[in-house]
Amino acid sequence: MKTATFLLSALVVVGYAASAAAADVNAGKKVFYKCAICHTAVKGRNSIGPSLFDVVGRKAASLPGYNFSDALKASNKIWDEKTLDAWLTNPQKDVPGTKMTFPGLPNAEDRANVIAYLATLK
Ligand code: HEC
Repeated sequence: MKTATFLLSALVVVGYAASAAAADVNAGKKVFYKCAICHTAVKGRNSIGPSLFDVVGRKAASLPGYNFSDALKASNKIWDEKTLDAWLTNPQKDVPGTKMTFPGLPNAEDRANVIAYLATLK
């Protein structure tokens, strides 16, 4: 019985790792259609929102030539998988006062996939 429980939890852990590793860039590109209303993936081309080219690894609100909110400037974030996941879950809750009026992506897989896509924009 103990062995069975152990095996089961081992399977759950392996399954979780596999799903985390399976972030799908192509699926993320489709999720990005929702972002593309306000963002481009093109270097230097800002729209309603800042260009998301090379955003992973960038300090929040640091892109020159875009007028960021004071709230995002004060957030002192570096955009990585973890900070992007929290932001994309609910931008207004993550950074109260942000001017990103997008309600967020409730689905964790959508978030992981779109973050994997953002990481390719180099
Ligand atoms: C309705 C327009 C809109 C949509 C849709 C939208 N955003 Fe934004 N986004 C903005 C605005 C405006 C800002 C600037 C926020 C600020 O200055 O407070 C922003 C900022 C960001 C930033 C911070 C960039 C930086 O340089 O600090 C990231 C990352 C981001 N958005 C990702 C996304 C992703 C990914 C999606 C789609 C899942 C998305 N956004 C959808 C308008 C939008």
